[in-house]
Amino acid sequence: MVCCWNLIFFISPFITTLGYLGTLSSVSASSDCNFPYPKHYTAYHLNAGEIINVDGKVDEDAWSKVAWTDEFMDIQGPSFPKPRFTTRAKMRWDENYLYIAAFMEETDVWANQTKHDSVIFYDNDFEVFIDPSGSTHFYKEFEMNAINTTWDLELNKPYLNGGTPNSSWEMPTMKTATFVDGPVNDPLVKNTYWTAEIAMPFKDLIHGKTGMRAPPKNGDQWRINFSRVEWHVRVVNGHYEKVPNIREDNWVWSSQNAINMHLPERWGFLLFSKEAVNQTTYTKYPDWNVYYALTQVYNAEKAFAAVNGYFTDVLDQLNLPSSITQGKCAKIPKVDVPKFQTSKFNVTVSPLVSGAPIGHISDDRLIWFEESKIKSLFLVKICRLFNLSLCQALS
Ligand SMILES: *[C@@H]1O[C@H](CO)[C@@H](O)[C@H](O)[C@H]1NC(C)=O
Ligand SMILES: *[C@@H]1O[C@H](CO)[C@@H](O)[C@H](O)[C@H]1NC(C)=O
Ligand SMILES: *[C@@H]1O[C@H](CO)[C@@H](O)[C@H](O)[C@H]1NC(C)=O
Ligand SMILES: *[C@@H]1O[C@H](CO)[C@@H](O)[C@H](O)[C@H]1NC(C)=O
Ligand SMILES: *[C@@H]1O[C@H](CO)[C@@H](O)[C@H](O)[C@H]1NC(C)=O
Ligand SMILES: *[C@@H]1O[C@H](CO)[C@@H](O)[C@H](O)[C@H]1NC(C)=O
Ligand SMILES: *[C@@H]1O[C@H](CO)[C@@H](O)[C@H](O)[C@H]1NC(C)=O
Repeated sequence: MVCCWNLIFFISPFITTLGYLGTLSSVSASSDCNFPYPKHYTAYHLNAGEIINVDGKVDEDAWSKVAWTDEFMDIQGPSFPKPRFTTRAKMRWDENYLYIAAFMEETDVWANQTKHDSVIFYDNDFEVFIDPSGSTHFYKEFEMNAINTTWDLELNKPYLNGGTPNSSWEMPTMKTATFVDGPVNDPLVKNTYWTAEIAMPFKDLIHGKTGMRAPPKNGDQWRINFSRVEWHVRVVNGHYEKVPNIREDNWVWSSQNAINMHLPERWGFLLFSKEAVNQTTYTKYPDWNVYYALTQVYNAEKAFAAVNGYFTDVLDQLNLPSSITQGKCAKIPKVDVPKFQTSKFNVTVSPLVSGAPIGHISDDRLIWFEESKIKSLFLVKICRLFNLSLCQALS
């Protein structure tokens, strides 16, 4: 038996694999699985010879070839008033940088902040939020005003989860510049717009993110969002002043449906493409049904705890759509609340299709995926050894 004990050990996961594959054709997501999907944008890799000179002017061929994002809207959603000024962005990338261009229509360009890492949103600003892995932890925030003053920071978690901003996180090799079509801080001369150009080094963007690579590869999708803060100003004694007692406007690319940018799970998707410009057909983030179900259970647990003071592992006690509780779009969520520590929870959601990654979310909003065992290289190798046509689904 010495010889064959090993062999059984070797072969049993393989048999399990075949079992999984047999179920592949019999399950498919039901039609009421059209969960709301955030905005998406495809960034095209720069071609040989294409360069972006970060001088604030969005005038390179590399920019004119690619589409603008949709116009930004109010942070609370499309049913709120349309912003007073148009805002749009564009993105490209190369092996070192993510390039971002922003266009901001504006009649009164002003700026006061001059120190790096000061609170730029006290001025009108352009902001970028990036979460490469979509885990909602260790995401990055960037703000800049019309006179090229910047603030780059890292959030270990969203503020709602007790996160603290870390302004010591820096992008030492980032490049930034702005262009203003006229003077800044001069109420006598009206402007029409200002633009910003930013190059963010990938290697800094993935800081603190486990399992992320820099640069991304063709087809990877990261979470990103943009925001523009716009104050109401008036002219007093020849200079701009904020109109007192009016809160700032927040205009965003992908609406948060809340005045809070710090909900990374609601940000848009940025698809990295190495194909020729405009040749990529966008495909949804493949794990979206699982990801969305996780965030819904998370929100329902938080709402439940706000009333009851503890988390529950009984799904029926949570306010969730039936598509989630009946496992129509992903398997029925499993909630784990430790018996003697009901202020903690973990949710696990498995995909309907075996072989796709299994998702988790914990009470601090952290989202992570575990590769299904079926996809392990080990199994792929056995499959090739036996050369079964079924196994082609694995490679
Ligand atoms: C790509 O699409 C955008 C938006 O439709 C368009 O403005 C641009 O000219 C296109 N670029 C190429 C190279 O076709
Ligand atoms: C803030 O970020 C810097 C740079 O990444 C790091 O060295 C430092 O430990 C961080 N501080 C905290 C409190 O995490
Ligand atoms: C803008 O700021 C960047 C740092 O982000 C600096 O390298 C660059 O020289 C500045 N440009 C101008 C025109 O001040
Ligand atoms: C800019 O700073 C000046 C000097 O502190 C102040 O008087 C002015 O109100 C500020 N402008 C705005 C629009 O806040
Ligand atoms: C971020 O993206 C989400 C999802 O698309 C969107 O609802 C939200 O408004 C966006 N926020 C910003 C500031 O872009
Ligand atoms: C949630 O999962 C993490 C990682 O597997 C684990 O460390 C933690 O103990 C779990 N918490 C609960 C409440 O199950
Ligand atoms: C594996 O099977 C395929 C058909 O299923 C066949 O075309 C191929 O030649 C086989 N390869 C080997 C190495 O036997």
